[in-house]
Amino acid sequence: MKYSATSGIQHEEPLLFEHAHKAAESISLPGVAGNVPAALETFARKAPAGIPGLSEPEAVRHFVRLSQWNHGIETGFYPLGSCTMKYNPRVNEQVVRLPGLAHVHPDQPEESVQGVLALLYELQTWLGEISGLPHVTLQPAAGAHGELTGMMMIRAYHDSRNDTKRRKVLVPDSAHGTNPASAVLAGMHTVEIKSGANGRIDPDVLRANLDDETAALMLTNPNTTGMFESDIADICRLVHEAGGLVYGDGANLNALVGIARPGDMGIDCLHINVHKTFATPHGGGGPGAGPVAVNDTLSPFLPVPRIEQARDSYNIVKTDDSSIGPVFGSIGQTGVLLRAAAYIAAFGREHLHKIAEDAVLNANYVRVRLTDAYHVPFPGLCKHECLLTDEIQNKHGVKTLDIAKRLIDLGFHPMTVYFPLIVHGAMLIEPTETESKNTLDTFCDAMLEIAKQCETGDTEAIHDAPMMPIRRRLDETQAARKPVLVWHDDD
Ligand SMILES: Cc1ncc(COP(=O)(O)O)c(C=O)c1O
Repeated sequence: MKYSATSGIQHEEPLLFEHAHKAAESISLPGVAGNVPAALETFARKAPAGIPGLSEPEAVRHFVRLSQWNHGIETGFYPLGSCTMKYNPRVNEQVVRLPGLAHVHPDQPEESVQGVLALLYELQTWLGEISGLPHVTLQPAAGAHGELTGMMMIRAYHDSRNDTKRRKVLVPDSAHGTNPASAVLAGMHTVEIKSGANGRIDPDVLRANLDDETAALMLTNPNTTGMFESDIADICRLVHEAGGLVYGDGANLNALVGIARPGDMGIDCLHINVHKTFATPHGGGGPGAGPVAVNDTLSPFLPVPRIEQARDSYNIVKTDDSSIGPVFGSIGQTGVLLRAAAYIAAFGREHLHKIAEDAVLNANYVRVRLTDAYHVPFPGLCKHECLLTDEIQNKHGVKTLDIAKRLIDLGFHPMTVYFPLIVHGAMLIEPTETESKNTLDTFCDAMLEIAKQCETGDTEAIHDAPMMPIRRRLDETQAARKPVLVWHDDD
């Protein structure tokens, strides 16, 4: 197959329970009945645990086979817009597996984890410098968690000034769904701001929505259409003049890192999806980290515990009267944070801008190659991701979903589909800086082939796609609304 990045024949795989033997036979644990201390007797298991009986190789093969059904960043190109599924260099994995980093426990005494604290403190400093917002909490465990943390700090700031009516948060209609959700979770309400015809915020529309109840504007820059909000300085000024603060959704920092700093643009508070901008891609919901960087205005409200540098040690500050308190069980998601630190260190201050330059170059390369074949809703240079629609293919009865499914047969993970919502039939492509021109070309060739098939009416394979994977088109609505998550033994 021309574009296939995956290999191997896939077979149907029963659930562990379905192909297990009745009696556990892989490992025989010594009986414990006689040895259970009297005090624990009431907790002793009275009946078998119901664990499927499998030999070790059977169990291992089951999970390895299942893992081969997955399309991962290490099996093929993964241009999932907004998710920044970049390749995570192996050296990052080696770093976090160093015993001194991997085997520490969050509750260990501070003096026994000085090395980890030093690294995390260093990362905090780097993130402050990169964002232009010097005070950083590493606690939030994802971007959305960072948003919630930021909104809690903004609320605490207004409350500290007895300005308690400021509960209105302005959110552009192009925003990621987590933005309004986080604002509401923090006890605010949201008002949607319509994007202009160029996919960006219109300062006049913003001005009309600002008043003395405005707590904040939540803004993603570059926004989710891949466009840079070029009026950002005016936007921040207008919000500040109205007494509000600007929350920056820094999920797209991949487009700016090392080149421009949100703090310099007037943003007060920013979460950084370090799993996206630096390493550890987490599409599909793996572990993440969403540190939040703030300016002096918001620094009193940062969560505790946090790391502080003393004369010759690193201490954990556990309480602080003005802080919003803890938002996570410890300092932060150490494994993800340290991978990010390793990625940053590999580039170094001098070369960090290469991340953004290559990410933007790759996205524009794809945009230019696909421009005539696909509709580009917002023409001109994009940042780290390019937005297309199915407008042209629609005329031939082919929709975004069909194109995405066909890409699976051609060996690629589909791009993000139907997001952002402000564009009909959106296809958001984010190649990231880690991909070669060769990979981009094979992807563009596949996209052009699909476009050509639409044009010539040769669309059967597109409508039937995907044909290669074990699972074909699912009823995604039923899967989301009525998921079957529990196995029942009917015997
Ligand atoms: C623009 C934007 N904001 C927020 C988020 C939420 O980040 P997370 O998935 O880490 O919670 C994402 C996730 O991809 C995003 O793209």
